[in-house]
Amino acid sequence: MSEKIAPQDTCVLVTGGAGFIGSHTVVELLTRGYQVVIVDDLSNASAKVMDRIKTIVGEPAAANLTFYEADVNDRAALAKIFDEHRPSRVIHFAGYKAVGESVSKPIEYYANNIGNTLTLVDVMREHGCKSIIFSSSATVYGDPDSLPLTEESPKKPATNPYGWTKWMIEQILTDLHTADPEWNVVLLRYFNPIGAHPSGLMGEDPKGIPNNLVPYVAQTAIGKRDAVHVFGDDYDTPDGTGVRDYIHVCDLASGHAAALAWMNGRTGVEVFNLGTGTGTSVLEIIKAFSKACGHEIPYVVDPRRPGDVTANYADCSKARDLMGWEAKFNIEDMCRDSWNWQSHNPDGYEG
Ligand code: WQD
Repeated sequence: MSEKIAPQDTCVLVTGGAGFIGSHTVVELLTRGYQVVIVDDLSNASAKVMDRIKTIVGEPAAANLTFYEADVNDRAALAKIFDEHRPSRVIHFAGYKAVGESVSKPIEYYANNIGNTLTLVDVMREHGCKSIIFSSSATVYGDPDSLPLTEESPKKPATNPYGWTKWMIEQILTDLHTADPEWNVVLLRYFNPIGAHPSGLMGEDPKGIPNNLVPYVAQTAIGKRDAVHVFGDDYDTPDGTGVRDYIHVCDLASGHAAALAWMNGRTGVEVFNLGTGTGTSVLEIIKAFSKACGHEIPYVVDPRRPGDVTANYADCSKARDLMGWEAKFNIEDMCRDSWNWQSHNPDGYEG
């Protein structure tokens, strides 16, 4: 058993805590009374999110947040932060995440995502901190043999370096526990995170042309893009377009808080799917978003995008049964909150 600690006595180090999922998770943790130390190099995030987080949580919780602009791969900087704060738990979000870019920059993706994880766990070990929650992805399931996907569904070879980094880091953390059973590892496999904080103060802020569907739809809704490009309408799905399990980023955030509470006092390796269990097609997303923004969003049908699967959605009963966690928000909520964020922050945090 690892030591059981009350939230107010627990310092959680969050790598990538300024990013989309990280920032929402930090709000959830501060609200629940945890002390939080963010380590983020701001390579794909804005320092402005710190003020937004503090506004949302208010005092006194805001006083429990510390931010370091540092690269997780910078061993000396990371060791200094561990010396100073002695975190007892780590949530590891930091990593590159653009699927297409990972195909053209494999060295950068492996060096950054895997390299920073190895540096992180080594520094953790040196400081006697052996509890980690890792941001994994449904991408490890590849093209599913059957749906819904449970945690027992087989992992498939990834189709791009980004996917391989998630796949391999899961393995690295599992091997760590095999070598030293004091490690306490939770692997959270996210389905498709969308939405934004209901306050409109935080959301997804992609640089350049969005790779993912909902940010692209949101930018089309606001007039920054002419039309959504639907990647294929000849899939074996009810309307021919790809089906995914979209999950509100605030539900994902509460999933991390549930995992922290669940892992308290344990050791082991556990995998959880975080999704809603409901599949939604590309056309259904466009329709729901059109309703949220109050006008029709134009779209054109393009060929399929290489590497895309037909459909995936999660069986989330394990997270419900073990951690008492369930997603609360539906697609309408997700589109409403994405639109609220996009319409109030048309240029993201830098606007
Ligand atoms: C969803 C659906 C597309 C864009 C990827 C990663 C995953 C995770 C999330 C991120 C699919 C279709 C998309 C567009 C479209 N990682 N689509 N037009 O591919 O399920 O998952 O992002 O950090 O690991 O693989 O998400 O949002 O890109 O696509 O028609 O402009 O929308 O074909 O059916 P995906 P997505």
